Order: sequence, then structure tokens, then C-alpha cells
Amino acid sequence: MEIDVLRPGPLEAHDTAVPPDPEQVRLLDTQRAFDSVAADYDGPRGNNELIQRMRTTLWDTVQRELEPGARLLDLGCGTGLDAAEFAQRGYRVLATDWSPRMVERTQERVQAAGLAAQVEAAHVGIHQLEQLVAGFDGIYSNFGPLNCAPDLAAVAAECARLLRPGGKLIFSVIGRICPWEVGHYALRGRFRRAAVRAARGVTPVGMNRHTIWTYYYLPREFYRAFAGQFSLSGYRALSLFMPPPYLVDYYRRHRAWCEWLGRLDDRFGKLAPLRNMGDHFLIVMQRR
Ligand SMILES: C[S@@+](CC[C@H](N)C(=O)[O-])C[C@H]1O[C@@H](n2cnc3c(N)ncnc32)[C@H](O)[C@@H]1O
Repeated sequence: MEIDVLRPGPLEAHDTAVPPDPEQVRLLDTQRAFDSVAADYDGPRGNNELIQRMRTTLWDTVQRELEPGARLLDLGCGTGLDAAEFAQRGYRVLATDWSPRMVERTQERVQAAGLAAQVEAAHVGIHQLEQLVAGFDGIYSNFGPLNCAPDLAAVAAECARLLRPGGKLIFSVIGRICPWEVGHYALRGRFRRAAVRAARGVTPVGMNRHTIWTYYYLPREFYRAFAGQFSLSGYRALSLFMPPPYLVDYYRRHRAWCEWLGRLDDRFGKLAPLRNMGDHFLIVMQRR
């Protein structure tokens, strides 16, 4: 699923005297974008080896940080691939997403796999966490849902309320510095696309003729919002040397070379300054 840069468009016209709240309009745009891809989300994208490699890194990190049996909250669960995996590994999961179609896909997956006793799916956005009852041992989020959250400080406060003291946050977040992406688009003369992650504040990113409103972060920028309630356990680059998932065709043509690059990620992705780069970063924090 390749993304494009969009120019900010005019807000939708509403037949009311009250002007629409731009933040609500952006949230609804993002919801529509993900609703529109929910049916095909596990197709070619789900079979993408580069996505699976990053996914496995998050799975194994969660398992290192939290004992099976722990109660987990998934923020932006998509079609429930992670929730189902964690249920199979012995965790209990509340899987949440802002896209109703994605929540339906998660419900279908857990029903079909006989995991409904371990996984509950709920239509709750990351900006609506006040709706949830506290009592989680860990909260994870995979492949960038937190990049769509309009107020990260509010998310941090809600995560602190929802987690027991000592509980863990394990998030994979879209980073700002992705050398592969800059090179890929700059070589094709798409300079605006190459520079999209440099934008400050919210940025419109096209997907399937919809808009995902996205915030990009360096790991330290991201952590700043959580620093009041959480200590930083560590962070690492994901897909820094390895190409990002949308270059999977390149990976398939140069598999041995890319696997070697993947080993560089595993070996050096935790080291400064490399850990500040990559397609995503994986950050682990602990509730004080
Ligand atoms: C790239 S997908 C990742 C899905 C899933 N975590 C995975 O690993 O496959 C991003 C997900 O974030 C969800 N999302 C976007 N904005 C959100 C928000 N404000 N609150 C909760 N989920 C959101 C989307 O609906 C989508 O399912």
C-alpha cells in the first residue's frame, strides 16, 4: 500500500451555522481512509515479508517485556493480526480501532480462530481512551496508529491511567528519517514526496484516494509527550538498512542482499544515532 502526499484540501462543507471542527474532520477523513482498505488489508500487504519481519520484532518485544497471561490493550488493531497472535501466545487482549470496518475484521478473525474468549474488539479511537476501564499490564500499537493521534500528551495521560504501575508501552511508530524513502522518491524526481516526513505538525498523506492525517516523530520527540508518567526503557530502528515494506518487490529481487541488510538492522538498530532513523521505530516505556 504505497502512500502519496496530498495538498491540504478545503474542509467539507457542512449545512450548519457552526463551522466544522478541523480536528474532527481530519479524524473522519482518516477513518474513511482505513475503512476503505479494511477488506483488502491482509491481501498482498498481509503477505509482505518486510511487514512480517517488523511485526515479528514487535511480537517478540512484547513477549520479552510481559509474561503470558498479561492483559494487553491494542491501539489501532487493524484487522487483528497482532491481537490473534498474542491470544495464541497466551495473552488476553482488548483490540481497539477508530475504523469500524477494521474492528469488524478483527471480530471475524478472532471468531474464526476460536479466540473470542481471549480477544475482545471495540470501536474506540486512540483519542477516545477515556471510554476504557483501567487494568492493563501492557499497551501496544503496531505500524503507526499513534501517528494519527491528534493529541499525544492526552494519549500519554490516558495510557498512564489505564496501566498498572510498572506496566509497559510497546509502540511501533512511523519515524521522520527514512533514508530509503528519501532516496527512492528523490531518484524519481518526486521531491515533495521524498520530504513528506520532514513536515511539522499534521500532514495529509494519500491512500486509496482518501487522506490519512499523519504526524511524524523522531523517537525523542515522541517520548517527550510520555516523559511525565513513563520512563524510557529503549528504542530501536525498524527497517533502516532493510528497505521499507512498499519496496518489497526490490526485496524479492535481491533477497540475499536484503536479508544481510536485515541482520544489520538487528545488530546496529539499537545504537545511537542509527536508532533515530528507519521506516518505523520501536519504543518501549514503563509506567512509573
Ligand atoms: C497501518 S494500520 C496498522 C494496523 C495494525 N496495527 C497492524 O499492525 O496491522 C493503522 C491503523 O490505525 C488505525 N487508526 C488510525 N487513526 C486512529 C485513531 N485515531 N485511533 C485508533 N486507531 C486509528 C487505522 O484504522 C488502522 O487500522
